[in-house]
Amino acid sequence: MRDSSERWAAAHLTEEPVPELPRGADISRSSASRVYDYGLGGSHNFEVDRRVLDEIKKIFPATPQPARDNRAFLGRAVRHCQRRGIRQFLDLGSGIPTVGNVHEIAQRGDPLARVVYVDIDPVAVACGRALLRGRERTRVLQADMRRPRSVLDHPETRELLDFAEPVAVLMVAMTHYLADEDDPAGVLAAYHRVMSPGSFLVFSHMTADDHPEVHRTVEAFNAGSSDRLVLRSREEIAALLAGFEFVEPGLVHPAAWRPDGPLAAGHDPSLAACYAGVAAPIPG
Ligand SMILES: C[S@@+](CC[C@H](N)C(=O)[O-])C[C@H]1O[C@@H](n2cnc3c(N)ncnc32)[C@H](O)[C@@H]1O
Repeated sequence: MRDSSERWAAAHLTEEPVPELPRGADISRSSASRVYDYGLGGSHNFEVDRRVLDEIKKIFPATPQPARDNRAFLGRAVRHCQRRGIRQFLDLGSGIPTVGNVHEIAQRGDPLARVVYVDIDPVAVACGRALLRGRERTRVLQADMRRPRSVLDHPETRELLDFAEPVAVLMVAMTHYLADEDDPAGVLAAYHRVMSPGSFLVFSHMTADDHPEVHRTVEAFNAGSSDRLVLRSREEIAALLAGFEFVEPGLVHPAAWRPDGPLAAGHDPSLAACYAGVAAPIPG
């Protein structure tokens, strides 16, 4: 039996009349997951989210390239981890399901691949549950990844993932929602501790290094959102990841990370305003 949140999300997925919103969803302010969903062409967003992204587009017309380049990077990175033997995935800040979700990519290559999705946002979680109901090898948790024990010790995480085996931990387009006061390096270290040899971190983080006007887009986003975005420089991002060793080509713009082929003419990877990479935990 679906609960009311799942009914809400399922109605959106099928375009049926929409019942009440998921509990805890605040549509008086925009949210990261719904603005991103709008950028990717999804339907789980509201006027307040669309207004924010439209405002951001006026400042940085390349929008929504950051979202598209990130999703494409995520797909290539998941396949890379699979080729290196990964069979279980912990996707932190997974967002509203969209084209090319981790379980779709992973289970295409390996039907036994296991995926735990984690998001703090009630709309993202309701949509994930509505989409994934009845699937044995996926779980969707509502949790705050800044409290690693609440994720790692959650009964559904324990049921599906075995940290004695290598795991891919994904933090794609999400650690820029961690403020300095949240101790992002400490949060990363807590996940690092459960990653056995052979594991990978799949990571991306927004920056204004190449395009200073991105600072103004973040002001526009933060003014209306229940989430708060913090930009960091390449050096600051690399410092957060000091316990990890990047695989080639290192920390680069998402579209430049092992592209499947030549980039389309005019596709400037720096316009993603983001750094991305895949890294192995350094033991100890
Ligand atoms: C921009 S979306 C990225 C979605 C997906 N990872 C991707 O790259 O397509 C960021 C997501 O992180 C989630 N998020 C932000 N802070 C979080 C936290 N502390 N714990 C869990 N999820 C969080 C937001 O709700 C949002 O769904």
